[in-house]
Amino acid sequence: MTAAVLTGHGGPEVLEVRDDVAVPEPAPGQVLVQVAAAGVNNTDIWTREGAYGNAVDPIAVAGWRGVPLTFPRIQGGDIAGCIVEIGQGVDAGRVGQRVVVDPALYDRGDDHANPVELVGSERDGGFADFVVVDAAQAHAVDDSPLSDEQLACLPIAYGTAMGMLERAALASDERVLVTGASGGVGLALVELAAARGATVIALTSEGKEQAVHEAGAAQVVLRSEPDVTAAIRQAAGGPVDAIADVVGGEVFSRTFALLREGGRLVIAGAVAGAVVTFDLRVLYLHQRRLIGSSMHTRAHFRHLVDLAQRGAVSPHIADRYPLTAIHQAQRDFANKRYVGKLVLRP
Ligand SMILES: NC(=O)c1ccc[n+]([C@@H]2O[C@H](COP(=O)([O-])OP(=O)(O)OC[C@H]3O[C@@H](n4cnc5c(N)ncnc54)[C@H](OP(=O)(O)O)[C@@H]3O)[C@@H](O)[C@H]2O)c1
Repeated sequence: MTAAVLTGHGGPEVLEVRDDVAVPEPAPGQVLVQVAAAGVNNTDIWTREGAYGNAVDPIAVAGWRGVPLTFPRIQGGDIAGCIVEIGQGVDAGRVGQRVVVDPALYDRGDDHANPVELVGSERDGGFADFVVVDAAQAHAVDDSPLSDEQLACLPIAYGTAMGMLERAALASDERVLVTGASGGVGLALVELAAARGATVIALTSEGKEQAVHEAGAAQVVLRSEPDVTAAIRQAAGGPVDAIADVVGGEVFSRTFALLREGGRLVIAGAVAGAVVTFDLRVLYLHQRRLIGSSMHTRAHFRHLVDLAQRGAVSPHIADRYPLTAIHQAQRDFANKRYVGKLVLRP
């Protein structure tokens, strides 16, 4: 089969498109999925680069668990496709089922367990014609009106956004600031927060305002504003109840004080910088809370699958590419001149 194979941590040259990769075989309890579409994410690039650091060294070459990956590895955690083969013990009726894959592997068996491994990082993923996953990770979406490309936007971007909003317990009568609002996770945050009735103030860059409004933002503030905190405060009409941040860096340090007394900031990304200077008094003197959030739980993912089945989410595809054009897709991803998601088609 054709697959994009990561041969080590490094630049784009360590990602090789090969057409002689063996089709994996499903072990007992697993299914073989023919990949119809696979979303592109920031984690693909950080994982390739080994850009995650670890608890003692922020520039250590490491995957998201703080250690280097083992190679070769096929990336791609956002998978939509069709079950074409089953391993022992899996219901034969699942062959032919249209599925979206939960990329997370959890540390416990319950609904609220933490994700500790990721398809496309610790296991081979969907930048290939076929991928093997545990049967429980492949969720049926036969009834969904979403396209395969849209389904492939859900696991990481929408899963992460869902995890953030749930962990921050965002309520319908609250005001939330969303950063990086035109990106994969950001646009999902805007859509999901607005759908639960919250008032969304979105921080984005020039030219993307309309799309972010259309996704559900009540107010849009440009991050190029000379005094961005004042602009956000004015747009929100005062302090906000919650901040959903995927940007980090200076944006994190500057926006934290925009929270009301007892407000919470949930963070899941650091695209503008992972190491920040932060005045702890701004946190504790105002009973504010800082919540770390990675991906989703099983319960969050099931909720997402339910939304997909009902067509109650509408992921925005900015562009699609054949899998063989993965290097171009990653260059376009890095340039960020689009709104929403880029998708690969094996
Ligand atoms: N923890 C998790 O489970 C998890 C899962 C998925 C992603 N993430 C992380 O979340 C972050 C966003 O991921 P994504 O897939 O949504 O990426 P993305 O699609 O590239 O979106 C990131 C957005 O952030 C904004 N941005 C980029 N550079 C910026 C800068 N220097 N300063 C301020 N804003 C900037 C841009 O939006 P605007 O132009 O609209 O400002 C950009 O579109 C990444 O750090 C990623 O690793 C974490």
